[in-house]
Amino acid sequence: MEKSRKKFIDVIDKAIVAGNTMDRDELLFSYKGVLYPVTLCSLEVFRAMESFEARSDDVILAGYPKSGTNWVGQILNDLVATFEKKRRDEEKSVSDEELEEFPYLEIGDTEKYERMKKLPFRRVILTHLAPGNLPKSIFKNKAKILLLIRNPKDVATSFFHFSNAWSALPSYETWDDFFVAFMTEKMPWGSYFNYLSEWNKYAADENVMTITYEELKENRDMGVKNIASFLGISLTGEELRSVVERSSFQSMKENSLKTHGALGSMLFRKGGVSDWKNLFSEEQNEKMDKVFEERIARTKLGAKLKYEVYCKA
Ligand code: A3P
Repeated sequence: MEKSRKKFIDVIDKAIVAGNTMDRDELLFSYKGVLYPVTLCSLEVFRAMESFEARSDDVILAGYPKSGTNWVGQILNDLVATFEKKRRDEEKSVSDEELEEFPYLEIGDTEKYERMKKLPFRRVILTHLAPGNLPKSIFKNKAKILLLIRNPKDVATSFFHFSNAWSALPSYETWDDFFVAFMTEKMPWGSYFNYLSEWNKYAADENVMTITYEELKENRDMGVKNIASFLGISLTGEELRSVVERSSFQSMKENSLKTHGALGSMLFRKGGVSDWKNLFSEEQNEKMDKVFEERIARTKLGAKLKYEVYCKA
């Protein structure tokens, strides 16, 4: 079941065009104390989102920007589509294009949540929102939540390059300027550290599974199997292998013009671990180590991140 990506590419293209015509300080707006890009989000859509009714079989992929959400989104959609294809009649009364919604919950138009009620199959929904800003029904109706986390130094590095590549986000003259903004809560979708400490409160819930970018990078076979079993999806070894192959960095990058349009070349950058070593100064390392130690290190998510392995020179 190859999903249509037409709406995705349209939204992205419009954001690129709009971003190009705007001044840097017009690109973000604040909602409940958190910044968001005006070319993607709006107050009206945030208000409409409150009516979103989660289903118990929904799969919510929660990840801070640049944690690998497009990667794990591909794996989830592929697992669900492969599984559903076996169970469902191939004949579809409506086309994929009609059923397509922008994959991130908080991005779209105000009618999106009404249309989503009619989606006939298991819904895979991505979000960068902290749990307190998500519709309550996600927790009340016990949707499955896959929480994706990535070490903060690689997140910051990826976010810096992405901000300078994509016109919808404010760009930075220097890495040092970006680092200050990252550490002082000036990022779209808020502070990395707030995000992790908020999600940490849910990390032990039975309907929440946490996965790290780094563990998936080290063993994609195992990661895909664990995700499938969390979702109760059983596939043959060959089907699982195909999902693993289609989610390689190489394969996603090659396919990216089709799946992500102009965003593809900005998004699929290096796809590795430890690129932060090319940017962080000694002083910046010390600053981030200190904040991580104070806010995250002793939490469940902090332990999962293996900071000593991935964030020490
Ligand atoms: P880099 O900028 O470090 O290369 P998001 O999707 O949340 O915006 O995250 C983007 C990051 O995930 C980018 O990191 C991108 O290269 C990486 N990524 C995307 N697909 C990947 C894949 N198949 N394997 C590994 N990393 C991937």
